[in-house]
Amino acid sequence: MVTVVSHPLIQHKLSLMRDTQTGVKEFRELAAELSMLLAYEAMRDLELAPHTVTTPMETGEFPMLSGKKLALVAILRAGLIMTDAIVDLVPAAKVGHLGMYRDPQTMQPVAYYNKLPADIAERRVFLTDPMLATGGSASAAIHSLKQAGAQFIKLMCILAAPEGIAVIERDHPDVDIVTAAIDSHLNDHGYIVPGLGDAGDRIYGTK
Ligand code: PRP
Ligand code: URA
Repeated sequence: MVTVVSHPLIQHKLSLMRDTQTGVKEFRELAAELSMLLAYEAMRDLELAPHTVTTPMETGEFPMLSGKKLALVAILRAGLIMTDAIVDLVPAAKVGHLGMYRDPQTMQPVAYYNKLPADIAERRVFLTDPMLATGGSASAAIHSLKQAGAQFIKLMCILAAPEGIAVIERDHPDVDIVTAAIDSHLNDHGYIVPGLGDAGDRIYGTK
C-alpha cells in the first residue's frame, strides 16, 4: 500500500525543497521537519495500551505506546537526515544504518555498510530514504532487513517515482510506502522529474 501524505504543511515544505534557490541549511531543516510530519502518518497504527498515570488532580489510566519496539533504519547517506529527525519523536527506537550508493553508470545499488540492531526481528522497522527513484536501493535495503529477520517494515520517503513504487510492490508486496508525493517519471539518468535533484548532495552540500 502506498500512502501519499497530502497535508498542506508537508506539501509546502516539499515545494521549498524542490526550489533550486533553497540552500543547504534550509534544505536540511525542511527535510528534517518534513520527516517528522511523515512519521506522524507512518506511525499512526502504533499500538497503545493503558498505563497508570497520576496527574496533579487524580490517578487514572492513560494510553501509552506498547507492542513491538521500534527501529529506524537509514539508507546512507540521505536517509540519515530523516532518522536523525524522527528519533526525537521516538527516543526509545534503535537506529540502524545501511550504506548504499547508486552506481551512476549502471544505476544499480552498491552496498558498503550494514549495521542493524541485533534484535531487529522483534521490532517494527521504519526504513528511511528521501528518494525512491528506480527502487533499486530501497529494494536491496529491504532485502538486507529481511535477511536480518525483520518482518514488519515500512518505507518512508519524501519523493517517489512510479517506477520505484512498482519495483517495491513487485519485490516486497508486504512493505507499505509512505511518501510526501509521487512525481511524474525518471529521466534517462534515473533522476526523479520534476524531483528535487540529488538529495544527498543537497543535504550535505557536496555539489
Ligand atoms: C540516492 C537516494 C537513494 C537512491 C535512490 O542515493 O538517497 O538512496 O539514490 O535511487 P534508486 O531508487 O534509483 O536506487 P545516492 O546513490 O545518491 O547516495 P547518497 O545518499 O550517498 O548520496
Ligand atoms: N537519487 C536522488 O538523490 N535523486 C533522484 O532524483 C534520484 C536518485
